[in-house]
Amino acid sequence: MSEATSNTAADEAVTQINPEAHIEPEPVAGPLVSEGEKLLEVDNVTLRFGGVVALNEVSFDIRKGEILGLIGPNGAGKTTCFNVMTGVYQPTSGQVRFKGEGLGKRKKFEITKLGIARTFQNIRLFGNMTALENVMVGVDAHHSTGVGSALFRLAKHRREEAHGLARASELLEFMGLAGKADELARNLPYGDQRRLEIARALATSPQLLCLDEPAAGFNPAEKAKLMELIRLIRDQGYTVLLIEHDMRLVMGVTDRIVVLEFGRKIAEGVPADIRDNPAVIAAYLGVDEDAS
Ligand SMILES: Nc1ncnc2c1ncn2[C@@H]1O[C@H](COP(=O)(O)OP(=O)(O)OP(=O)(O)O)[C@@H](O)[C@H]1O
Ligand SMILES: [Mg+2]
Repeated sequence: MSEATSNTAADEAVTQINPEAHIEPEPVAGPLVSEGEKLLEVDNVTLRFGGVVALNEVSFDIRKGEILGLIGPNGAGKTTCFNVMTGVYQPTSGQVRFKGEGLGKRKKFEITKLGIARTFQNIRLFGNMTALENVMVGVDAHHSTGVGSALFRLAKHRREEAHGLARASELLEFMGLAGKADELARNLPYGDQRRLEIARALATSPQLLCLDEPAAGFNPAEKAKLMELIRLIRDQGYTVLLIEHDMRLVMGVTDRIVVLEFGRKIAEGVPADIRDNPAVIAAYLGVDEDAS
């Protein structure tokens, strides 16, 4: 359907996003959290891998409606933090609470249903499925009808299917990928794949969207556009946790920033304070704070 757009530069595709598309999260069960209140709490979390302490007594909150930056040098524990928030790993001690309730030993799919979605540092799409099908997988995470009812084409299943298709299409439209709905994910240009992963995560109607270096491999112009997109996503009613290495961009898009180094939280605050924080500067420059 979109022969003319084959291999469109990621840059060009971003400019075609449709901010008017309705992608707001759908209502989910459970307690309501008001704007500005604690949505997720990382409470004194330690995670050890053998001798490596990947997270060391880390605590911070994510408040509803904010864009929180999670930064720190390579190996600081940022991705590990996502992993304990999404059920990939259980903390060695401490806990993560979502809407006031501990995640406990919940599995990944249970946490998706609770309302936390993520993208991966290394893209993980279903390469042999189309862009639309990849997003439909996300929508299906919330549907109640299973294989049995699908076989009998029950009315409810048909309703969910139609609804899923509409929502997935809207998300592709928002991301500037509507013209590529029928292309296999693996054939999409790199930038489109990154955005498709975000669309799939949004399809689960998360209350918290966690993005692990979504702009990795982008040039500065593409990065700036992606940050604009993230702001638009927040404006549609999502709370965002963002890992991003480019300090200038992260300062421009986030409301608050948490800084990790060697598994410890070394700073937390508004971007202006983080920029001038000696411990943060030392962590990034690799200099001894006392010597500087
Ligand atoms: N499954 C694992 N087994 C053993 N060690 C691990 C495992 N996952 C992470 N680590 C270690 O935990 C530490 C934190 O890694 P993590 O991937 O969270 O860092 P990061 O801040 O995301 O870094 P980057 O910016 O490079 O992505 C590193 O020392 C890493 O080697
Ligand atoms: Mg990482």
